[in-house]
Amino acid sequence: MAFTVRLFLLSSLLLLPTYVLAQTNGSIAVGASLSTAGNSSWLSAFRFQQLENNNLFLLSIWFAKIPDRTIVWYANGDKPAPNGLVVTLTASSGLVLTSCQGEQLWKSNQTVAGVVAHGVMNDTGNFVMEDKKSAKLWEPFKNPTDTMLPGQIMERGGKLSSRNSETDYLRRCFQLDFHDDGNLVFREQRPFYSTATTTGSVPGHEGLQLVFNDSGNFYILRVNGGHYPFTTEELAGRDYYLQSTLIFDGVSA
Ligand SMILES: *[C@@H]1O[C@H](CO)[C@@H](O)[C@H](O)[C@H]1NC(C)=O
Ligand SMILES: *[C@@H]1O[C@H](CO)[C@@H](O)[C@H](O)[C@H]1NC(C)=O
Ligand SMILES: *[C@@H]1O[C@H](CO)[C@@H](O)[C@H](O)[C@H]1NC(C)=O
Ligand SMILES: *[C@@H]1O[C@H](CO)[C@@H](O)[C@H](O)[C@H]1NC(C)=O
Ligand SMILES: *[C@@H]1O[C@H](CO)[C@@H](O)[C@H](O)[C@H]1NC(C)=O
Repeated sequence: MAFTVRLFLLSSLLLLPTYVLAQTNGSIAVGASLSTAGNSSWLSAFRFQQLENNNLFLLSIWFAKIPDRTIVWYANGDKPAPNGLVVTLTASSGLVLTSCQGEQLWKSNQTVAGVVAHGVMNDTGNFVMEDKKSAKLWEPFKNPTDTMLPGQIMERGGKLSSRNSETDYLRRCFQLDFHDDGNLVFREQRPFYSTATTTGSVPGHEGLQLVFNDSGNFYILRVNGGHYPFTTEELAGRDYYLQSTLIFDGVSA
């Protein structure tokens, strides 16, 4: 049995076809919406994805150029819903996802209080909601599901949860938790591995951020500036592993 916390290693330059980027600067106005019926998207990346073998949809961020494993973030994994979904960018509540019956299925909880002025779909795979002074109020990079992308940093308190299977996005109990004390813990019901990056004999030894940097290095940044390089080998030999997938586009591979 293998559970996966996905880490996609992509060059942000290869992420989206250039013709898509040329269409727009990625700015999304308050009041803008996407619907399953309209089959619309923001920069081709933020869109509804129909699940395989059924008529249910997920609000997701995905990459059109990669045929497989395209979804890198999703909103309503626990509540995929039939055609008729609408997501709207609102000033007071950020992104609000409603069903065709008008039921609110999901909304983005702002990490910083404020009035949303606009959203920006970034070619890094992030969608940033900003106020009129361009302060960031919410972004998927700070609320990841099961994937981290290069350039993504997880603060203490963050977590990743694996999906049930390739096509079932319900979160399952395999998790990576970055605790408030700086320790990174893997758990499935019970913790089974930790990096022990807590306060120890060495001052500043504890973890501050979990970093997947632009060159694809994955490490815990310690309070004292040191790195705890976290590698997939650390979990080798267990039933669990951390998958880091290198995806080439057809050109550079
Ligand atoms: C991006 O496009 C929107 C709508 O076309 C426009 O209002 C905004 O000023 C543009 N932003 C930049 C930075 O060019
Ligand atoms: C939605 O758009 C995609 C990409 O443009 C296209 O491949 C697909 O056939 C469309 N689906 C429907 C139901 O129109
Ligand atoms: C948003 O916050 C509410 C109330 O705190 C909570 O019930 C809900 O689960 C949160 N939603 C998300 C998507 O985090
Ligand atoms: C996209 O994200 C990068 C890295 O955070 C940032 O430097 C850049 O300004 C962002 N682009 C837009 C259009 O917001
Ligand atoms: C990513 O981290 C590695 C290892 O710490 C470092 O050598 C590299 O320069 C970093 N890349 C960027 C873009 O910061």
